Amino acid sequence: MFITLEGPEGSGKSSQIGLLTAYLREQGLAVVQTREPGGTRIGDQIRACLHDVANGEMTAVTEVLLYAASRAQHVEELIRPALAAGKIVLCDRFADSTIAYQGYGRALNLSDLHTLTRIATGGLSPHLTILLDIDVERGLARRQSGGDEMNRLDLEAVSFHQRVRQGYHALAANDPQRWVTINADRPKTNVQADLQRVVMDHLRQYQASLV
Ligand code: TMP
Repeated sequence: MFITLEGPEGSGKSSQIGLLTAYLREQGLAVVQTREPGGTRIGDQIRACLHDVANGEMTAVTEVLLYAASRAQHVEELIRPALAAGKIVLCDRFADSTIAYQGYGRALNLSDLHTLTRIATGGLSPHLTILLDIDVERGLARRQSGGDEMNRLDLEAVSFHQRVRQGYHALAANDPQRWVTINADRPKTNVQADLQRVVMDHLRQYQASLV
């Protein structure tokens, strides 16, 4: 089963996904935890280029092609083989980030982005996507106070991040079968408890659908 986590900056995704992976492994499940951009050796090189704050002159089209290139490598090298081996793949961001950040945030054409996504993923889509939702200013403040390293996109205006969040809300509303939204502006343990419940419920449904 392919599960992705999405959210605006400072939603706590990265630490929540680590806790979720540990929990699922304690249940005896085989889990591959990964992230985008990155997840492969080539993808990590692309990630470094994308996030480098020195690359301020990068155009929006260059940016989206690099995210797509990282994704193409990731799907082929890591995600598809893991799914074929019956593993659960937990991915910190996937193609929905491109629609939210490059589509809603940078205003690139959404239909072009869907085509690009299809090329990069070969049509692979997550079974479940969880949106860890948080108010943009709260999230950015959290990120700064957490001492996280600031990447090139973190430096964008608050209005950019607000469009990204609106994009996520639109994506979740358009596909309620795949998306579950969790309020991330709560204590870590409460968010984690909700994540575990949602994932276990969906895993049971998914396994039942296979028999
Ligand atoms: P993160 O791993 O710390 O969340 O950083 C990834 C950054 O890259 C984040 O700012 C969102 C951005 N991003 C895009 O703009 N488009 C994409 O397709 C992906 C995967 C990430």
